[in-house]
Amino acid sequence: MPGAETFRASADAYDRHVGRYGAPLAAALIAFARVEQGMRALDVGCGPGALTAALAERLGEASVCAADPSEPFAEACRARLPGVEVVVASAEALPFADRAFDAALSQLVVNFMRDPEAGVREMVRVTRPGGVVASCVWDYAGEMTLLRAFWDAAREVVPESAAADEGAVMPWCGEGDLADLWRAAALRDMRSGSLVVRASYADFEDLWAPFTTGVGPAGAFCVGLDHDRRVALHDAYRHRLRVGDGPFVLTARAWAVAGIAVE
Ligand SMILES: C[S@@+](CC[C@H](N)C(=O)[O-])C[C@H]1O[C@@H](n2cnc3c(N)ncnc32)[C@H](O)[C@@H]1O
Repeated sequence: MPGAETFRASADAYDRHVGRYGAPLAAALIAFARVEQGMRALDVGCGPGALTAALAERLGEASVCAADPSEPFAEACRARLPGVEVVVASAEALPFADRAFDAALSQLVVNFMRDPEAGVREMVRVTRPGGVVASCVWDYAGEMTLLRAFWDAAREVVPESAAADEGAVMPWCGEGDLADLWRAAALRDMRSGSLVVRASYADFEDLWAPFTTGVGPAGAFCVGLDHDRRVALHDAYRHRLRVGDGPFVLTARAWAVAGIAVE
């Protein structure tokens, strides 16, 4: 998936960008997936570790493993959670035994997999029969406010940006899209839902700064602009969000799916 390489940026930039939503989203995904104490769980595409940390808090670090193909992100996750086994690996080739986990989760990752069908098949393979496989993806085309307003402003300032708009290019971002993928992986007792989380900002510049580091597809688009168009985007984005020099909160919606692995 074009865009996966944009997550080789620093974990700090990611944390100040979409990572701001990571902890509440992880808590919501864990509750949605019904992960319970005593389980052993895998976080696929862990990034700097928002979901890994929430799983470790619930299950204990020794009962959690994590995987991500980005070395800086895997390293950041390892540094935060030294008792978690963190491997540099893609979802499509997980270096874990069959049926090794009671739960395999991924947060905001499916759209970045090179081969999502293979990635989900691998999540199923490493989950024991009766265990849960669950994921969530942003509602890029709708109510993920941070990114939706960014791409709407980009389309206004740079019409060619329509080709990069995550709401248009992400294959798994509509309601029910993930369920199709889960159905194809023959998971049973499937449940779909939406998870709505919030993040706080000190002011607009607090929100804008991470984009200028090139993190994520929107950041990569931002740093690819010349100076004048970047300034125009900054102003259009701020105007669209109707925020200024004071603190504000944005909400973000993700679509979630969970299913049970079978024999
Ligand atoms: C939007 S970030 C989400 C990170 C983390 N799960 C979170 O919620 O903060 C997407 C992550 O997917 C990872 N990724 C990209 N391609 C992947 C693949 N083929 N398999 C697994 N993870 C992948 C990236 O390195 C990045 O860490």
